Amino acid sequence: MKKKVFSGVQPSGIPTIGNYIGAMKHFVALQNEYDCTYCIVDQHAITVPQDPKILNERTRGLAALYLAFGIDPVKSIIFIQSEVPAHAQAAWIVQCNTYIGELERMTQFKDKAGKQESVSAALLTYPPLMVADIILYNTNIVPVGEDQKQHMELTRNFVQRFNNKYGAGEDLLVLPEPFIQKEGSRIMSLQEPTSKMSKSDTNKKGYISILDEPKVIMKKIKSAVTDSSGIIEYDKENKPGISNLLTIFSAFSGKTIKELEAEFADSGYGNFKEQLANAVISELEPIQNKYYELLESEELDIILTEGANRASAIANTTLSKMEQAIGLGR
Ligand code: AMP
Ligand code: TRP
Repeated sequence: MKKKVFSGVQPSGIPTIGNYIGAMKHFVALQNEYDCTYCIVDQHAITVPQDPKILNERTRGLAALYLAFGIDPVKSIIFIQSEVPAHAQAAWIVQCNTYIGELERMTQFKDKAGKQESVSAALLTYPPLMVADIILYNTNIVPVGEDQKQHMELTRNFVQRFNNKYGAGEDLLVLPEPFIQKEGSRIMSLQEPTSKMSKSDTNKKGYISILDEPKVIMKKIKSAVTDSSGIIEYDKENKPGISNLLTIFSAFSGKTIKELEAEFADSGYGNFKEQLANAVISELEPIQNKYYELLESEELDIILTEGANRASAIANTTLSKMEQAIGLGR
């Protein structure tokens, strides 16, 4: 039997090329080898304040983007988290078997809590919902960026604890592994190459959105922060800007960083940046066209309804198993 892949992305804004390189590009590639399920985690998004109308648009929009990237709804399941109630139900069970201390240690919680005026209880219990997402689909492999490592450890600890406690010698739940691609798992800001590229950056020049127009992409890459040495080589410590651009170039060209260093050995930063921008634009343009086409189509809603039905069937089976094991219901 094929191994199972599951991943989720929050509809918290238009993805950046960081999300694309660190997560979505892999999602497409994995479809050929595995049974894949991809989820738009709108319930995770509401752990921080959201405008209802914008959240709605972004959720549907992100689904269109997944499909535009090349997710094939025949091979893979694509659905919206809130349309499959088993996630919230399983998350409750996970919370009941998770310690507050474990959750308070999560760096994403500490980061996000520090940025909010008032912190919702769900910001703390966010990881148990992610655990639920993963376990419901008997997931073996979870492709994520490096920042999700801690949440994956929590997931594995939960599965082991739950199986020990309720499994009666059998593995009730599947123990998942994170799949973290080393290269490209941490794309940095174009303006501040020592911090992560983020769609919530207040400085729009720091990131490239998947939907940025070609002109904008060219401009942002041309104004990316580099250094004064003029040499194109990978040296993360001393040349974080150029190193980040090399990583991005490698992801968009399929060439290794070594090959790019050789290719641009005699080139200045200006030419290098222009070629990089062209590589990014030629990959993103067809994705953008497909995205706008899907947004207007009924096809998108048909795919999402079917996705939610297929996901529910799998999720409800696991949920029942968990409920029975812990003695819920009759
Ligand atoms: P988020 O935007 O936080 O919902 O993240 C969606 C996915 O993209 C997750 O798997 C992240 O780990 C990944 N990701 C987010 N930012 C970056 C980045 N700058 N570089 C690489 N991967 C990222
Ligand atoms: N927490 C992830 C993030 O912030 C999103 C997420 C939610 C997820 N549920 C998931 C990722 C399940 C992988 C698997 O990026």
